[in-house]
Amino acid sequence: MNISVFGIGLMGKPIAERLLEANYSVTVYNRTISKAQELQSLGAKIAQTPLEAIQTAEILILMLTDAKAIQEVILSPETADQLQNRTIIQMGTIAPDESRSIQEAVEKHGGQYLEAPVLGSIPQAKDGTLLVMVGSKYSLFEDFKLILQQFGSKPEYIGEVGTASALKLALNQLIAALTSSFVLSLGLIEQQGVDVDKFMKILRESALYAPTFDKKLSRMQQRNFENPNFPTKHLLKDVNLFLNQGEANGLNTEVLQAVCHVVERTIELGLSDKDYSALFSAINTDKS
Ligand SMILES: NC(=O)c1ccc[n+]([C@@H]2O[C@H](COP(=O)([O-])OP(=O)(O)OC[C@H]3O[C@@H](n4cnc5c(N)ncnc54)[C@H](OP(=O)(O)O)[C@@H]3O)[C@@H](O)[C@H]2O)c1
Repeated sequence: MNISVFGIGLMGKPIAERLLEANYSVTVYNRTISKAQELQSLGAKIAQTPLEAIQTAEILILMLTDAKAIQEVILSPETADQLQNRTIIQMGTIAPDESRSIQEAVEKHGGQYLEAPVLGSIPQAKDGTLLVMVGSKYSLFEDFKLILQQFGSKPEYIGEVGTASALKLALNQLIAALTSSFVLSLGLIEQQGVDVDKFMKILRESALYAPTFDKKLSRMQQRNFENPNFPTKHLLKDVNLFLNQGEANGLNTEVLQAVCHVVERTIELGLSDKDYSALFSAINTDKS
C-alpha cells in the first residue's frame, strides 16, 4: 500500500516515521524540501511537488498547519484533478466547517475523505499513543482503521466529517483555558512568596487538578520554553478557529476572547515559536 505524507513538521515527521517502521511504502512531501529529506535514510521517497506525491500513492495523509495549506497543496488547479480514487486522511487541526468543505471538494474530484485529528504531541506521535478521533462515513473508518492504529491503538469513531474536528477544537479550547487559568494562579503564588510545592500539593489533592499543570510547571518556573511540542502560534490558530466556529454557532465566547488576548500578548513578546507554556510570560510579566 502506497502512502504519501504531506507536511513534515513537528507532527508529520514522527507520523511518517511510524509508517516507515511498519513497512509501508511512504512518499513524503514538504514545502521546505530539506525537512523531508531527513526521512530518506529511513526509506522514504521524497516528492519534489505535491503533484508527484499525489500521483505516487493512493492514500494521502495530511499533517499541514491549516485549511489554507491544505487548499494550496491538494486542491490547487494542478493537483485537484488528480484526486480521483485517492483517500485523504486529514490529521491537522482545522474547523468543522473547513473540514466539510474540503470533503466536498475532494469528493467532487473523485476522492474520499476522512478527518482524523489527534490529541497528544510529538512523544505520543513517536510511540503511537495519540488519541485519534475520526470523522467520516463509518465504512471508511473501518477500511482505514489499520493505518490509523499506527498512530494510536484505539482510533475513536466520532461521526460524520466535522464531528471529530469539533471535538478536537473543544479539547484545544480547554488547553488554552486551563493553561491561562493555571499561569494566573501560579503568578499570584510566586508574587506573594507562597511555596510552590505547597500550592501544587494542595492542588493535586483537590478536584481542581489537571495533569497538564504538572507537565508544564517546571518549564514555567524556569522560563524555559525552548524545543516546543506545541508552539504558541498553533494555540492561537486553534483559539481563533474555536472563536469563529463558536460565534457562528451562537455561543458566548467572551471568556475565550480574553484568553485569546493573553495568547496574542505572548506572541507579541516574541514567543510565537516557543512552547505554549510561555503564556506564563504574558501573565507574570515581572519575572520574564
Ligand atoms: N504539535 C502538536 O503537538 C500538535 C498536536 C496535535 C495537532 N497538531 C496540529 O497538527 C497540524 C501540524 O502541526 P505541527 O505541530 O506539525 O506544525 P508544524 O511543525 O508547524 O508543521 C506544519 C507543516 O505545514 C506545512 N505548511 C504550512 N503552510 C503551508 C503551505 N501554505 N503550503 C504547504 N505546506 C505548508 C509546513 O511546511 P514548511 O516546513 O515548509 O513550513 C509544515 O510541514 C496543525 O494543524 C496543528 O495544530 C499539532
